[in-house]
Amino acid sequence: MKIAFTKLVAPVQGVVVIAVPEAPKGNTAKPMKGAKPVKAAGPALGRTATALDSRLGGAIRRAMAAAEFTGKRERTVQVLSPGDGKIKRVIVVGLGDPKTLDAPAADRLGAVLHTALEREQAAIVVLEDIGAGKTGAATIAAHIAGGLVMKSYRFDKYRTKEEADAKPRLNDVAIQSDAPGEAAKVYAGVAAVNDGIFLTRDLVSEPANVIYPETFCQRTKAALANDGVSVEILNVAQMKKLGMGALLGVGQGSIRESRLLIMRYNGAKNKSAQPLAIVGKGVTFDTGGISLKQPGGMWDMKWDMGGAGVVAGLMHTLARRKAKVNVVGLCGLVENMPDANAQRPGDVVTSMSGQTVEVQNTDAEGRLVLCDVLWYAQQRFKPRAIVDLATLTGAIIVALSEHYAGLFSNNDELAESLSAAGRNVGERLWRFPMGDEYDRELKSLIADMKNIGGPRAGSITAAQFLKRFIQNDTPWAHLDIAGVVWNEKGTALAAPGATGYGVRLLNRFIADNYEG
Ligand code: BES
Ligand code: MN
Ligand code: ZN
Repeated sequence: MKIAFTKLVAPVQGVVVIAVPEAPKGNTAKPMKGAKPVKAAGPALGRTATALDSRLGGAIRRAMAAAEFTGKRERTVQVLSPGDGKIKRVIVVGLGDPKTLDAPAADRLGAVLHTALEREQAAIVVLEDIGAGKTGAATIAAHIAGGLVMKSYRFDKYRTKEEADAKPRLNDVAIQSDAPGEAAKVYAGVAAVNDGIFLTRDLVSEPANVIYPETFCQRTKAALANDGVSVEILNVAQMKKLGMGALLGVGQGSIRESRLLIMRYNGAKNKSAQPLAIVGKGVTFDTGGISLKQPGGMWDMKWDMGGAGVVAGLMHTLARRKAKVNVVGLCGLVENMPDANAQRPGDVVTSMSGQTVEVQNTDAEGRLVLCDVLWYAQQRFKPRAIVDLATLTGAIIVALSEHYAGLFSNNDELAESLSAAGRNVGERLWRFPMGDEYDRELKSLIADMKNIGGPRAGSITAAQFLKRFIQNDTPWAHLDIAGVVWNEKGTALAAPGATGYGVRLLNRFIADNYEG
């Protein structure tokens, strides 16, 4: 998508969007007895829109009145072929109260515009009166463009028979505002985030016959090739040497060999400053193993590498926007298959930490992968903090549905910064409790722990398992993203399928807490 930022000038041709703030509510005080209620004025057009409307003989105002348009946020009115035919159509979009317009609201407005415009090739978006709130006109304009691009993503490479006129065509958008230079600067950062999200969505959308540990590494390496991110890939023999018995046990039933992908980006002034570590669960397909899953919906488990997908996308974003921070991203990549060589329920594996685990359920495999990657990350990189992302439990979907991801942490400050970043970008987190009461559930008769708890609080016992692999109270947070990686109906900012949830959140978390 080509995005350009330009000054406000009344367009003379093409497809035009004009953004209109909500009409002031008028006098909300109760009218005196017997007095007529005060009638609110209609929404006001800005200077550029007014000039356009005059040239079109008032067609825009007439359409707004006929549609009883109040300027409510995200409401649209279409005016087809007004005037001399050079203006093909005008879309009026409501801004709502400009004082409450912030970046997430602007993202969603942009997404609404994509839906309204996708059949067109090009459009001019006139943004007047967007600077009244705390956020500022440039950031609002940049995020309207960003939301539009975010919503434009489609994964259609395997659709060979889609009719051309069913595909969105929009690829050229000019964004007019009174701060185009500054908006373009802000947009560079927003575009870097979108690039990361698109990489994540690509990796997550691919089926498991295409993306498996080796190809996940290849794809990611290729995507990061010009980013100045150093990529290292450990194979099975190397992981064996390191003693990663828990991770390797999960992958041993698959003909696809396991991998550990390590991506290092050093953007801080001090290149040897302790990095932040971001760890992702990368189960490229989760059949459950010998503890086989039910067939219904099992195909969903192609996105059981969603955590790893976010780590790859985030590294791309950080490098593209030249973030001033040192970050190491690590993805534990395995395929969990039932096979003659698969691990059995009851097997005992030795993790890299030396702790032994009785694998009572081979479908609780994510924690087995993560425990070795978490341990390795700490041993090798001594990170100042660790955040892991994983589609770890079905129980988190029971608890939160698709609206929040679960947050678990040993550190209140870290938990609060992550929550705040989530609120600021509109990717929300909900923190769960942790404690010895839950940890006790992991007691095993013959090993240091088993890999499942009881039937209750399954997301918390999974987090307790991970916590046993965190050394010396290193600040650590675990995000259970099982409910938010994939959305069957689509979200405000994503078509049905992969959402890319987590890239914006962690990018913001890093920008607010670890840069400058
Ligand atoms: N990948 C699944 C969790 C999952 C389920 C993600 C549904 C997305 C949608 C994970 O490996 C798993 O199977 N967890 C088990 C754990 C149980 C055996 C303790 C679960 O949640 O049922
Ligand atoms: Mn599983
Ligand atoms: Zn899984």
